[in-house]
Order: sequence, then structure tokens, then C-alpha cells
Amino acid sequence: MELPFFKKALLPVFNGFVDYHSHILPGVDDGVRSFEDSKKILEEYTRLGVRKVYLTPHVMEDVPNTVEELKKRFEELKAYLEGVTVPELVLASENMLDGLFSERLEKGELLPLDGEHVLVETSYYNPPYNMEELIFKLKSAGYIPLLAHPERYRYMEKSDYEHWKNSGVHFQMNLSSLVGFYGDSARKNAEMLLKENMYDFIGTDLHRYRVLEMYEGAKLSKRIFSYLEKLIYFVR
Ligand SMILES: [Fe+2]
Repeated sequence: MELPFFKKALLPVFNGFVDYHSHILPGVDDGVRSFEDSKKILEEYTRLGVRKVYLTPHVMEDVPNTVEELKKRFEELKAYLEGVTVPELVLASENMLDGLFSERLEKGELLPLDGEHVLVETSYYNPPYNMEELIFKLKSAGYIPLLAHPERYRYMEKSDYEHWKNSGVHFQMNLSSLVGFYGDSARKNAEMLLKENMYDFIGTDLHRYRVLEMYEGAKLSKRIFSYLEKLIYFVR
């Protein structure tokens, strides 16, 4: 058992933080619903010292957002926020590795994170039957696949993590996994991947304001906190 004075509060990590994964663009997926809620979250981000936020709405067969629709909603959000102090905002997307992804990739209709990384995810329970092929096609198109929350996939084991890292896939940690919001198994995987230096990016994957309230009371062991600080320093 770790004694309380060996723990550190999570919140200070947000000072200067770049959030590479969020569902704050309103009304386009299962994330934030209204412009008002987006504003409330982004104002709180400013208060915490967050520097930059990537808005990464879901794109999948069940949520077939187009690049054009997302860009339009992004412009509407920016207009709504005029005069409000918020972190720098960048539009990207989180892409389910499914049939729609294959189509969009072929048409060149993707919203990469930073010009080269494309944020991708799979179901939590099973990989797509053609995951190798999709990753290969994405790389062949000149992108680096960035796998969202690898620690949360029930079907992945250490050998899978090693396989994908060796295939040139980058990993993005979900901060909420590390503080235990998704249970023990995701937290333990996150700690292991963090210690093994396998993460390349980090994000909150925030879907609603409540998550920020949960972060407020969150604490990490000093050891995990120092690994986390190193990752955050590396990516920002
Ligand atoms: Fe997400």
C-alpha cells in the first residue's frame, strides 16, 4: 500500500498541457452536446493552464461525420467563443478502423492530428479482422497511425503492444486510464506502458465536464507522477 504522503495531486500536470484527444466539439458524437458546455470546459481548461486542445470527434460507420461537416461545426464553435479566453484549438478526428475508414482513406478524406499522425481506435473487445491491412494502407499513404488508448483494449497483451510498436504504430495514453476511471486493468496497462516508455502522446479523451471534477480529487503515486511528467514534457 502506498501511504497518502507519497501521492501527488494530478491537477498541476495541466499547466502547459497539450490535450491531444477530446470530444469537446459539440453535437457531433457522444461527447459534449452544446456550445455552452464546450465553453464551460474550455474556460476551465484555461484556468488550469492548458495551452492547446485537439478536438478529435469520432468518425465511424455509426457516426459518419464528414470532414466538411466537422470543419463547419469547428468554425461555428470558434465564432461562438469569440472574445472568450480559451486554449489554442485544433480540429482533428478519432477514426474507428472500420469499412468507412478504408473508404475515407482511399478518398484522402481524413483529418490528421498534426499533418502526419492519424488518431485511430478499434472496438475494446475485438480487433478488426483486417487491422494489419488498414495500418499498412495508412502508413503507405504517408501517415503515422496513432493508436488511441491502447491500455483499454481487452484483447491486447504485451506481445501485441510490442508488435504494433515494432510496426511503426505510435501510442496515445488516455489520462483517465492512469487515474483509474476505466478500472484496474486499464490502469495497470497504462502504468506498464508508461514505465516501458511506449507512449508517444497523451490526451484526456474528455467527453463531458464531469471528468474535470473527477480529475480534481485524483492523485498518483510519486513514481507514476514522475513518469507522467516526463511523457507530458516530451510531447508538448
Ligand atoms: Fe475518444
